[in-house]
Amino acid sequence: MTAVRAAVDCETFGLRQFLESLPAGELLDVREPVDLTAIAAILDAQPEAVRFRSAGPEGAELVGNVMSSRSRFAHAFGVPGPEVPREILRRLGNRAQLIEVARDEAPVQQRVWLGDEADLTRLPVHVQHGFDGAPYISAALDITRDPQTGWTNLGARRLMLRGPREAGVDVVAPSDLRTILLAAVARGETLPVSFVVGAHPIDHAAATLKIPVDELGLVSSLRGAPLGVVKCVTNDLLVPADAQWILEGFFDARGHAEDEGPYGEFLGYYGGVKHNPVFHLTAITSRADALFQTASIGGYAMNRTDTAQISALRTESMVWRTLETAVREPVAVHATTSSGGSFNVRVSLRQRAPGEARNAIHAVMGSLANVKNVFVVDPDVDVTSDAQMDWALATRFQGDRDIVVGEVMRTLPLDPSLDGRRTGAKTGFDLTWPFGAAEALETSVPAPPEFAGARFASVRDALAAGPKYFAELVAALGSTDGREIVRELDALRSSPGLTRDKRGRYLLAATNGKT
Ligand SMILES: Cc1cc2nc3c(=O)[nH]c(=O)nc-3n(C[C@H](O)[C@H](O)[C@H](O)COP(=O)(O)O)c2cc1C
Repeated sequence: MTAVRAAVDCETFGLRQFLESLPAGELLDVREPVDLTAIAAILDAQPEAVRFRSAGPEGAELVGNVMSSRSRFAHAFGVPGPEVPREILRRLGNRAQLIEVARDEAPVQQRVWLGDEADLTRLPVHVQHGFDGAPYISAALDITRDPQTGWTNLGARRLMLRGPREAGVDVVAPSDLRTILLAAVARGETLPVSFVVGAHPIDHAAATLKIPVDELGLVSSLRGAPLGVVKCVTNDLLVPADAQWILEGFFDARGHAEDEGPYGEFLGYYGGVKHNPVFHLTAITSRADALFQTASIGGYAMNRTDTAQISALRTESMVWRTLETAVREPVAVHATTSSGGSFNVRVSLRQRAPGEARNAIHAVMGSLANVKNVFVVDPDVDVTSDAQMDWALATRFQGDRDIVVGEVMRTLPLDPSLDGRRTGAKTGFDLTWPFGAAEALETSVPAPPEFAGARFASVRDALAAGPKYFAELVAALGSTDGREIVRELDALRSSPGLTRDKRGRYLLAATNGKT
């Protein structure tokens, strides 16, 4: 898969190029100097991506909120927002191609800091939340190699600064990195790791997908282009040559040995102090004009955080994949960003056989540990509309009939409602009509009438051709008014007689309901 030293484009998927390509209204440029302590509040208040041209005393360039909206992911993938998860699935079929570039041709090694120069406190890392244990590097993608498979593993993980060359990294939740790290610790070995800071949104999407492949290859597949990689200066890992910054180093062999946290977490609450591994920095490499990146996480505006938006993409992609085998006709999938992008998942489907809504619920509950509540609706309900979902819950759901509870399931330990338990409940809400009931008038949704169909000279002729709703009579007579039809119906009521069917359509008594 890796070709050595061939020419490769190291600019198109640069973070700076992405920012420069954004349409108007997506990026706020802050040109005046800003203290690092002011960054969090500015980002919290802005829906746009925000680029600080001069952050902190060093005047560093820093960007935040790059991925805090689906519209920016839509721009990154070149498809409308709701289509992005399926575009990701489509791109998984792209051939992965890694091309190793020489160190002097890798933009991310234009500047190399070693020894005392390699200092995490030189970077524009800001305090994000009031109770955080220290400033966190929040938009980092970790790269490790699994010696068992030879594959490179990528994930998104935060680093809490402990000093110039140490950071705490949260590796508590089940993940591939956790498995790889625990195996290294069991062998009594350190684990080489490098972190990318400053990457294209597509790379973040790739890093957080749960697919058993070499995940650097996954970056190439999702980009739909060869990925230039370069060997790190102080370890043997390959990293994207077009990144902004790389933090090289290793996890020490003690494993989960030091306190890390608290941190404002992606469910909108603080995560407490945990025992976590320590990252030791051995080098920092970067572009000459490197742009640092930060990511928003939690708080009351969860729906517009980078984390919830990335998580929603991952959830929707994985749920689509599951549904494509579990039911015949999934129509739409939406993971709400207000629930962190994975806890509450909405699915609409066209049921071809009774029970498919329940199959969908069970399949989606099992698709990802992080999915907690599943709402299934008929295809007429827009899953991205809170108002329509509320209406479906109010009118198509009975608590004693339509709830499915999965007990003692693997779930996300960070869920504060677990109250310390390691497994939890998942709940399915079947908001679909009972199979076949959607045909009835009482389950049909009113909408302004459409006046279409064959024309007739009189109401009597129109009804002789078959039963009709009032609006169909208006169309059948080419009326632009309708009140004259009320008068004609009144006359027909006396002779030859007029009646109504169960759906409320008019019909001539003499036709006896036959059409
Ligand atoms: C911005 C962001 C930050 C994240 N930070 C962490 C973290 O600090 N610790 C963690 O366990 N998971 C974190 N996650 C979730 C993991 O990145 C995600 O589960 C990933 O798929 C793990 O990859 P892996 O299983 O290949 O190791 C984060 C996700 C996002 C989007």
